[in-house]
Amino acid sequence: MFVHSGSLPHLLPPAAYTDAEWFARERREMFGRGWHPLCLADQVAKDGDQFAGEILGVPVVVMNREGRLHALRNVCAHRHSQIVPDGPQSGGKTLRCQIHGWEYDESGCLAKMTDGRSFKGFKAGALCLPSFRVEQAGPLVFVNLSPEGPTFLEHLGDLSAEFQRFYTGLRHVGTWTFESPVNWKVIVENAVESYHVPMVHPQTFQDYRPEELHDHALAPTYSRYGDLLPYESEKGLESLGFRVYTRLLIKNPTFKRFTHVNVYPNYLLYFGDIFSAFNVVEPLGPERSRLTFYSFVPRDIHWGWAGRLLQDLSMVVFIRMGKKIAQEDVSRWPPVQQGLRSALFPGVLSCREERVYGVQRYVAERLGMPVPPLDAGRAQRPPAASEDAAASPIAAAT
Ligand code: FES
Ligand SMILES: [Fe+2]
Repeated sequence: MFVHSGSLPHLLPPAAYTDAEWFARERREMFGRGWHPLCLADQVAKDGDQFAGEILGVPVVVMNREGRLHALRNVCAHRHSQIVPDGPQSGGKTLRCQIHGWEYDESGCLAKMTDGRSFKGFKAGALCLPSFRVEQAGPLVFVNLSPEGPTFLEHLGDLSAEFQRFYTGLRHVGTWTFESPVNWKVIVENAVESYHVPMVHPQTFQDYRPEELHDHALAPTYSRYGDLLPYESEKGLESLGFRVYTRLLIKNPTFKRFTHVNVYPNYLLYFGDIFSAFNVVEPLGPERSRLTFYSFVPRDIHWGWAGRLLQDLSMVVFIRMGKKIAQEDVSRWPPVQQGLRSALFPGVLSCREERVYGVQRYVAERLGMPVPPLDAGRAQRPPAASEDAAASPIAAAT
């Protein structure tokens, strides 16, 4: 069921999706204090493994030193080069700068200067790179640029048990990344509402599901949708295939259909018995975002190598289906962004879109905006709309 009944206010103004100053505030007040996935846990699993990437424009490297993970700013104190190139390395005991070879230990302190005598008079003793908080959670490694705040699992709140159930013991099957010329919220909001289904996915999903099949939850740090359609009730060869597949291969299946979670602000989790995805919408600019899809399947399955072969074949079908649906959504994001640049009305949300309200409320609270109580919010409907939307000709037609 939905959490709310009736309309909800669109809490964020159109400028929240286009304005550079707004974007800078989000980066400072919200993303700068959050956890960001940098790499797969497998990529830094062994002593000496290193992985370099970028978080909110800051070069970061994670290194495994004797089983412990360390995250450091990947910028050399000599003449500011990235110390190690982006991607995985098997570096050994130190981080070694790719330009002149200065070396740093796992705490970030300078361990070796090449040709140290030519720097006579320079006090290198206390030179250390800034370090960041780093955590492994499930199959991923997360970094937080802020020294304070909740751990990643604390941020998940009461979702953490379900996260650990569906995001441990996994095998990575692929990572896909692409950029889109839209604000990050356009992507997240599209992913968390099903109101667009009949227009955008008429073949793949067809129509709205009745409210009774939605298991909606709005928690302080996430919103969740559970699909309550009984596993056995769907017709069609594909779903029959997946049912048989679940029974044959999966140990301790739940036989629930998929669950979708938006961990605020920008993670989109999609998980079930046979597949777990962790997708991230990274804000690159007010009107530019990068999406990364990490996809996994359970590692411990029945039937050994034959089971794994069947699992890989099924994933080809499953991922092809997922990409088709994603493509339908991706093509609708730029028209939304274009409209936001010239929007006049404040917007409004239906209770079917209440997970959009959830993420907007999270953003508003992080940015210190007043969030009106819901009854007061009803006054924010577009002026042209009838007070009782259910009685309007538009509502009657749907
Ligand atoms: S820039 Fe790193 S050693 Fe020179
Ligand atoms: Fe969609």
